[in-house]
Amino acid sequence: MTINITAKILNASDNFYIAQCSIFNNFSIINLTSSAASVDNFNLAKFQISNLLPNTKYYVRICYSNGVPIDNYVGSFKTPVSGVYSFKLGFASCSFSSSVPGPGVTASNQIIYDRIAQKAINNEIDLFLHLGDMHYSDISTNNEALFHQSYDGVFNAPRQNNCWKNLPMYYMWDDHDYGPNDGSKLNPSRNAAIAAYRRRVPYSSILAKNGNTDSPYYSFVRGRARFIVTDIRSEREEKGTYPSTDSRQQVLSPDQKSWFFSEMLAAKNNSQIIVWVNTKPWISSTGDGKDDWGGYHAARLEIVDFINQNNLRDRIVILSGDMHALAFDDGSSINNYGSLKVCHAAALDQQARPKGGPYTLGPITNDSGTGWVTQYGVIEINDTGNTSININFKGIVVSKIDFTESIAIDVSFDLIAGIPISSSSSSSSSSSSSSSSSGSSEGADQQILCGSIVSFINVCHNKQNLFVNPLSFLYK
Ligand SMILES: [Fe+2]
Repeated sequence: MTINITAKILNASDNFYIAQCSIFNNFSIINLTSSAASVDNFNLAKFQISNLLPNTKYYVRICYSNGVPIDNYVGSFKTPVSGVYSFKLGFASCSFSSSVPGPGVTASNQIIYDRIAQKAINNEIDLFLHLGDMHYSDISTNNEALFHQSYDGVFNAPRQNNCWKNLPMYYMWDDHDYGPNDGSKLNPSRNAAIAAYRRRVPYSSILAKNGNTDSPYYSFVRGRARFIVTDIRSEREEKGTYPSTDSRQQVLSPDQKSWFFSEMLAAKNNSQIIVWVNTKPWISSTGDGKDDWGGYHAARLEIVDFINQNNLRDRIVILSGDMHALAFDDGSSINNYGSLKVCHAAALDQQARPKGGPYTLGPITNDSGTGWVTQYGVIEINDTGNTSININFKGIVVSKIDFTESIAIDVSFDLIAGIPISSSSSSSSSSSSSSSSSGSSEGADQQILCGSIVSFINVCHNKQNLFVNPLSFLYK
């Protein structure tokens, strides 16, 4: 098992740095050390630490090449369990930042990030899916540096910094952190956005395509869940280019679509459930010029047809953000094409705003009268090795008044995985660094991949205090 880390090292004075892991938070014993890495033009260094034990809490720090820590900054993460694996993950999107691109971007420093961090520290979640709008810089200039300044703003906000150093994160952008509002393949900053993403995320090795301007879609497998993370921004037609029902009004390129379909079949062939990370609302009435799937109805129906033809419906759950609300649909909404299970969780810190629907539950915007919400979701995947895997979705509100948490949505449902597997016959932890889309056919030996990769998006190592006054955002 391997963890990948991206660290930002300011005032880099050494040629090489290393990352160390310990099971002790005081590093009295160094259990594992990465190979040496140098910083790039944006002061980012990528580290990989292998041979991690399963089901283990590790602490991590960055050191000079001689093993001396460059400061007292310590992150943590927990590795997955071997064999049949149940786990919890957090997910959400949409986190406020100042909107002007450039140096000094300030990002949300809300208490919700303390609440999420505490769950990670308490081992109540060990993974986070960030569904985009990590910042709201709306960058339209094709300049990679602007994207890094915005990401720096996110990871320099003290509470976000503390959260993301203690919680491995997988990320897919939405419009505001990819380019201008409602952006498409025509976004003038598209290539800079992709370059920054590839440089920044620690898990660039699992991206499905490797070209400098290729869309950064990817998948990974945990236990018997295949997470398929589509990019529905950088390859889509501009909204309203064609009528919604015109098959030219596509969201995915032909390449991404065939990859998406092959990933879904791979899940079926490997007795896995499908967690489709789909950043935009799926449940929406059809209409020309809409930014969500309602404006891309022909493309939506293509996916529905594939799901139906391959009998995949009861294997899939969609995780979505974008809408600044919590919601769940059990498949029965009139606008839920394909009758899929859909879980929405947002906004981490943004103005309350329902979209799409109707939903079985929600949309919920508990804003305490402020107009702003701080909300996220937790998905619990309960696998006992049977034909079905139980999913629990909790939509969580962090009060805008006393910052306590309450559960606004609490639903459970089963998804079909396939051939049962007993914990005694399951494989041990795999060190595979990517999910395989060419897995064994149904009926062959079952394979359980535990945490094909465990990733931090970032560990910010600041040798100087770059924090901009977070108090300026407490009015929200
Ligand atoms: Fe948003």
